[in-house]
Amino acid sequence: MAAERWTPNSWRAKPIQQAPAYPDPAALADAEKTLAGFPPLVFAGEARKLKRALGEVATGQSFLLQGGDCAESFAEHSADNIRDFFRVFLQMAVVLTFAGASPVVKVGRIAGQFAKPRSAPTEKRGDVELPSYKGDIINDINFTPEARTPDPRRLLEGYRQSAATLNLLRAFATGGYANLENAHRWMLGFVKDSPQSHRYQELADRITETLAFMRAIGLDAEKHQELRATDFYTSHEALLLGFEESLTRVDSTTGDYYATSGHMIWIGDRTRQPDHAHVEYCRGVKNPIGLKCGPSLKPDDLLRLIDLLNPDDEAGRLTLICRFGSDKVVDHLPSLIRAVKRAGRTVVWSCDPMHGNTISAGGYKTRPFERVMSEIRTFFAVHQAEGTYAGGVHLEMTGKNVTECTGGARAITEGDLSDRYHTFCDPRLNAEQSIEVAFLVAELLKAERSSLPAQAPAAE
Ligand code: PEP
Ligand code: CO
Repeated sequence: MAAERWTPNSWRAKPIQQAPAYPDPAALADAEKTLAGFPPLVFAGEARKLKRALGEVATGQSFLLQGGDCAESFAEHSADNIRDFFRVFLQMAVVLTFAGASPVVKVGRIAGQFAKPRSAPTEKRGDVELPSYKGDIINDINFTPEARTPDPRRLLEGYRQSAATLNLLRAFATGGYANLENAHRWMLGFVKDSPQSHRYQELADRITETLAFMRAIGLDAEKHQELRATDFYTSHEALLLGFEESLTRVDSTTGDYYATSGHMIWIGDRTRQPDHAHVEYCRGVKNPIGLKCGPSLKPDDLLRLIDLLNPDDEAGRLTLICRFGSDKVVDHLPSLIRAVKRAGRTVVWSCDPMHGNTISAGGYKTRPFERVMSEIRTFFAVHQAEGTYAGGVHLEMTGKNVTECTGGARAITEGDLSDRYHTFCDPRLNAEQSIEVAFLVAELLKAERSSLPAQAPAAE
């Protein structure tokens, strides 16, 4: 069957889930037109570089760390928040690289992670029913009719915030902050007296020693940019397709279309119908694409989606982000892995241990740390049993000292949740819990790598 012709707006002719109802379509069209005249946020060459890096994850040579807020918010946009997230993320990456003995591909859920799918289109409080909050790029979280009405001006604010965030992230990644010589300084004040901090300080000491040794033999950060700077990429769910279309641009060197709103975009678990709008949009842009795989995804549907999204079986093009729930992984993951193997397709297998493990407790949505870890452990165990590679984790996390997920080394209780529950959408791991996850994943990763078929050392 020949694929139908794709254009940046061919999604408009398809059925669509989760699309906001804008009361003034002309104002929406105006905002989209304005955006279409703005510069791209990322470049095609960067998206290609990420795709190559993910290609190495697919073949087991590297590990993907993807994470950030469930939903970024306009109100919390500040340099401190971005820096705190970035430093915890760097710490996690260092833990995985050093303790897990693996190169790490770093992808933030940031600089564009604004639009949210919701399980219900409306929210009811008492007798009042209003549209659900869909993320700051669409409407406002306050529970009033005005706040909840989708407002097209928010697309422009989303673009502005993404550009500003990305600008700071680029500076952090390449301007010296991410220099491995600074590994000691990334520790956040409030984490300093925790068990994770001691473990991290020990690891940072070993890195310092290693760097001193390398300097002594003539390899220093001045001469080697990989010690001084890091590759950091951005990603978000491509939910708001009008926004994505406006930032879809032709790459002048290849003539291909790229989403320039972020390096990687993904399709959510609620919008992955093969003949619907979100899959249609994503199949035509050449970025690395993520696909959320939840319990309702059948092996045949997955193969159909793989055919649509990665017809040429390009390594690094498609990341399957599995989010089944800690008790459901064993029921669902093996059949998907076997189908992909039988079809001979190349994918990155990543584990989102957050979205299948949300429960309510004391009026809050939360996620027990133990379930998060259990889903990751089972994910690794299933891959080990199937002879495939657990290639990454996808986390909702923050650099802040929040109390949104229970458990972890500080044993946050359900009663503690009200202390600092700040998320705009789903509960996130706090800085300490994030580092704790990184140490646990590093152990699993190290075991995974030691059981891989012996490989010749990578050529220089
Ligand atoms: C998310 O990643 O925030 C999300 C909504 O995930 P999913 O589509 O897997 O439910
Ligand atoms: Co979420």
